[in-house]
Amino acid sequence: MKKVLVIHGPNLDALGTRERDIYGSISLYELDRLLYQRAEQLGLYLVTYQSNSEEDLIDALHRAGKSFDWVIINPAAFTHTSVALRDAVLASGLPVIEVHLTNVFSREDFRKRSFISDVAKGVISGLGIYSYLLALEFVAHEAE
Ligand code: DQA
Repeated sequence: MKKVLVIHGPNLDALGTRERDIYGSISLYELDRLLYQRAEQLGLYLVTYQSNSEEDLIDALHRAGKSFDWVIINPAAFTHTSVALRDAVLASGLPVIEVHLTNVFSREDFRKRSFISDVAKGVISGLGIYSYLLALEFVAHEAE
């Protein structure tokens, strides 16, 4: 059974209340519930994790290398700022899929730069919660 870690970056704990016109009304709890449901259907072992702290996200990626096969990460604002998170993605040694709820290319210019994309297996941006669900789908169907 493939083991997948989903990492939610800063401010995603405020989903459902933060900038609802942009991010929608689903809470992180509800999103995680949908991800666990889908993972079960797809036969994936899933753990989800959220932190607002760059340090904790880096530590989570370091630990992931030992216990998971894949990482799906929404690095949120750290996407656009963090060389340290990029290095942690590489240090994990795992295939990583970068996801965003919104289309980061259709927003402010500073969101067009990602420190993660070129070291990710792939990027899904702009499909709301389906960005995450489709990443799970890919992991389930990708050959071992
Ligand atoms: C985000 C996009 C980022 O630019 C932003 O900082 C976020 C969320 C998204 O999921 O659309 O916090 O990663």
